[in-house]
Amino acid sequence: MTEPLVLGIETSCDETGVGIVRGTTLLADEIASSVDQHARFGGVVPEVASRAHLEAMVPTIERACKTAGVKLDDVDAIAVTSGPGLAGALLVGVASAKALALALGKPIYGVNHLAAHVCVDQLEHGQLDEPSLAMLVSGGHSSLLLVPDITREVIALGQTIDDAAGEAFDKVARVLGLPFPGGPYIDAAAREGNPEAIDFPRGLSNPKDFANHRFDVSFSGLKTAVARWVEREQREGNAVMVNDVAASFQEAVVDVLTRKAIDACLTHDVGTLVIGGGVAANSRLRTVAQQRCDEHGISLRIPRPGLCTDNGAMVAALGSELVRRGRDESQLSFSADSSMLVTQVVAP
Ligand code: KG4
Ligand code: ZN
Repeated sequence: MTEPLVLGIETSCDETGVGIVRGTTLLADEIASSVDQHARFGGVVPEVASRAHLEAMVPTIERACKTAGVKLDDVDAIAVTSGPGLAGALLVGVASAKALALALGKPIYGVNHLAAHVCVDQLEHGQLDEPSLAMLVSGGHSSLLLVPDITREVIALGQTIDDAAGEAFDKVARVLGLPFPGGPYIDAAAREGNPEAIDFPRGLSNPKDFANHRFDVSFSGLKTAVARWVEREQREGNAVMVNDVAASFQEAVVDVLTRKAIDACLTHDVGTLVIGGGVAANSRLRTVAQQRCDEHGISLRIPRPGLCTDNGAMVAALGSELVRRGRDESQLSFSADSSMLVTQVVAP
């Protein structure tokens, strides 16, 4: 039997993504982003994102088919992000996917965005080890997941109790006068700065936090500490050393994330760490995660940056794995679920 050909649609935030995979082979990954339309607001505006998805959907599907060299009729199944994400944005993807599935007479899988972020690594590094530990860090989420079976069992070990990791990068970038989205700009500025210049706080990292928040993270105290520091420098008439602040802030985030991820691997006796989400593009996070994994004999898997950020290929990758393992498809009546729990991999 040939491997399944699956088309995946992602619209949970500001990227309209359409990916096509056969088995674990990536054939197309087309993206239309509305990020430029949100930049002047300093964050994603849901209504603007929904409208942009609507306009981009058909052209992006057409581009993906062309790139993959397939016709819609050839597709064995449709997969779509059913949650979590922005309700209106998700709706556009779910409605489009249902229309396609109905018209083509093909099964549809409404999948969990977070599980898709993990599964995408299969397109680059082959079959996932089970169990794996996954750390997802993006503008919308910061989660530590134990993954015994990516098609039906994902266990949340911890998450952010306030801001997501990428959100913290974006807010701190704003304080430093850097453009949105701020992550890449902080990454670049930090390369020229001293990560030890300022000792910013590491949230939820004291032994007393371990009882209730061992695998949770918190970035709002860090964000406030950076803002206070910058305000004080300005008040005292000093030039703000943007590169040093960026490097010291980034070091605090990376230190906490990697410590918690390694601790989770060791605690649950898991030998593989997968990192995904937009913040996984961060160069310092990649370096420190590799060093710390090497120290503990943990194998580290991070997809290339284009697959870490939101994309359609990740949805197709998870859809394909569901088909390969003969998991139940979703009923056509499933709905977009903005707060879909990570424990639910597929909408029933
Ligand atoms: O996964 P993604 O594209 O969308 C969400 O689901 O949020 O992640 C976007 C986030 C933004 O907050 C952005 O600032 C952050 O990922 N990001 C980075 C880097 N590249 C993107 N953060 C730190 N360092 C980077 N190099
Ligand atoms: Zn995401």
